[in-house]
Amino acid sequence: MDDILKEFNEILGNVKSYINYQKMCGVDVCPRESIVDRSDEPERQIDMGERLTNEIDNIQRETEEIVPPKSAKNSGDISGLMKELESCTRCKLAEQRTKIVFGEGNLDAKLVFVGEAPGGEEDKTGRPFVGRAGKLLTKIINAMGLEREDVYIMNIVKCRPPENRNPQPDEIKTCEPFMLKQLALINPKIICTLGTFSSQTLLRSSVPISKLRGQFHDYHNIKLMPTYHPAYLLRSPTKKRDVWEDMQMIMKEYER
Ligand code: URA
Repeated sequence: MDDILKEFNEILGNVKSYINYQKMCGVDVCPRESIVDRSDEPERQIDMGERLTNEIDNIQRETEEIVPPKSAKNSGDISGLMKELESCTRCKLAEQRTKIVFGEGNLDAKLVFVGEAPGGEEDKTGRPFVGRAGKLLTKIINAMGLEREDVYIMNIVKCRPPENRNPQPDEIKTCEPFMLKQLALINPKIICTLGTFSSQTLLRSSVPISKLRGQFHDYHNIKLMPTYHPAYLLRSPTKKRDVWEDMQMIMKEYER
């Protein structure tokens, strides 16, 4: 009986993973299989992925323990750090930025995403990853079975570089201590660096992201998984498969 249950759970897990990968790729609906001839009706679609995922979630929820509400044990320290950054003029990015994009999410997060630098939407709103690339990141997080509120999201550079150019070494150097303090306060189990800049900066490496990704690296006893930046995925959607592989490795570690 145990073996059957185990196999059943494995199959459920695989189906869920497949559906979530499809969702991450933007497949939200699939055509309904025709039982009666509907050829003269306009095409109807149902959200099959969502329905299956909900059903699987329901089964799993029934067997899950009740999780205590998320605490914000570091909120005092984090707000102190935010205060330190307030009206920052430590580097030239201060001249053209609208808002400092500090980072947001669960201060007890087991998983932290570290991006590069805010773009236009982020500069306007003061929130990380809310533009097009951010929406894809949210999809990836959801496909992992998590919400944005479960993780913490931040960048290595807190102000938008003009015209979205790459952050320059002096800007990264000036801002990096704040990112390091944030990481130290949150003390996650896993860090996922998004793209070349954050991966190479944290790992002190010049190895291309294509070679860094796909495996965990040690970052002061924290497991660090570099992966492609969502903005790159928007330009090269075929790389989503690689990112999904990286996310599955993260989820295995996350659930351990
Ligand atoms: N790209 C990033 O690296 N960070 C953001 O916050 C938005 C886009």
